Amino acid sequence: MDTESAITLENKYGSFNYAPLPVVLSKGRGVYLWDLEGKRYLDFMSGFSAVSQGHCHPRIVRAIQKQAAQLAMVSRGLYSDQMGPFAKFATELFGFERILMMNTGAEAFETAVKMARKWGYEKKNVYPGSAQIVTCIDNFHGRTTGAVAASSHEGHHRDFGPLQSGFNLIPFDDLIALESALSNPSVVAFIVEPIQGEAGVNVPSEGYLRKAFELCRSKKVLFIADEIQTGIGRTGKLLACFHENFRPDVVLLGKALSGGTFPISAVLADENVISVLQPGDHGSTFGGSPFACHVAHESLKVILEENLTENAEKMGNLFRETIQSFHLPLVKLVRGRGLLNAISFDFGGDLGAGNRMCIALKEVGLLAKTCRPHIIRFAPPLVINQEQMQEGLEVIKRVIHTFRSDSNVFGPL
Ligand SMILES: Cc1ncc(COP(=O)(O)O)c(C=O)c1O
Repeated sequence: MDTESAITLENKYGSFNYAPLPVVLSKGRGVYLWDLEGKRYLDFMSGFSAVSQGHCHPRIVRAIQKQAAQLAMVSRGLYSDQMGPFAKFATELFGFERILMMNTGAEAFETAVKMARKWGYEKKNVYPGSAQIVTCIDNFHGRTTGAVAASSHEGHHRDFGPLQSGFNLIPFDDLIALESALSNPSVVAFIVEPIQGEAGVNVPSEGYLRKAFELCRSKKVLFIADEIQTGIGRTGKLLACFHENFRPDVVLLGKALSGGTFPISAVLADENVISVLQPGDHGSTFGGSPFACHVAHESLKVILEENLTENAEKMGNLFRETIQSFHLPLVKLVRGRGLLNAISFDFGGDLGAGNRMCIALKEVGLLAKTCRPHIIRFAPPLVINQEQMQEGLEVIKRVIHTFRSDSNVFGPL
């Protein structure tokens, strides 16, 4: 099959809920992807920040093969020999007492919402049926009906109503707004991304997260960090909240928990919170299967044993410093932490320019995508080395230098 026929087939029989770049990938190793014609690309998307350990990491591939051949599935209606050791490892690693396993990130969010509401009724004596959860404008917690009800993004919830109630949106990085929202005694939780990834890698002011956590503490409100994108080393710490030296009450993990191989998510919390969910309250057929536990266990070990968190910190600094030093035209700012970064461009009112720039990057061998029309996110696998990062930076420099935002014309590359 060639690129054209693969795209034709997908466009004819697939769905329309994404707008992919015109490239068809068929192989991946580490930071590289190859298309059907054998052209190699640097992957600066990592499957929406999931493939932190690099494509087809040999240890994760072996773990998949081993556990698939041994025992892939028993439901949580039975014990498996994989859950206990993984749960011990993961809780000790992140500093929590307990873990609840799900599949997608959105399901981890849904789990946290249910858990926080029940915790509010049982432990905070909130009037039955009135629990409120505070979330931030421009958040992204997934695409389920609950997650879109908690979203401020018009396109995420328009036409999908009636929307679930009980979410109170406040501006991100605004402690005064948070304090005012928390004055409502029905608030049970504040759910926040430590860095808003999908919104364009919005990094809050220094100290915001820690102060927000302290405010929540003072009002007996759970601070729930959605670290589905920022967690597991991506920002240069195991959890992004660790940059501000505190441990949230609840943490949501996903994406890199499987090395990007299949959906595994988790909710970490202490006994007094997680124990409100009793048999029959919540569950998932696949969540916490022996297969998922074994693969997640190995995926976390790879992050630790290959020092990928430290590498993310180093390579991220290199990325931002180098882009700044280029003084490129159109670049308004570069921001991020570790290997979760974005460049914001001044394209005037040209809403298609970001996408055209991503196509230009693809033409010269680097894959990245816009998360807002004028913002491109750059989030390579954490295994990227200095040479590969330099290669990527050169490509980005050449493309931005020659890009004409007003005409779709590129100079010689
Ligand atoms: C912060 C955050 N939360 C939740 C999700 C949803 O995860 P999933 O797509 O696995 O449902 C995402 C996905 O991008 C995310 O970035």
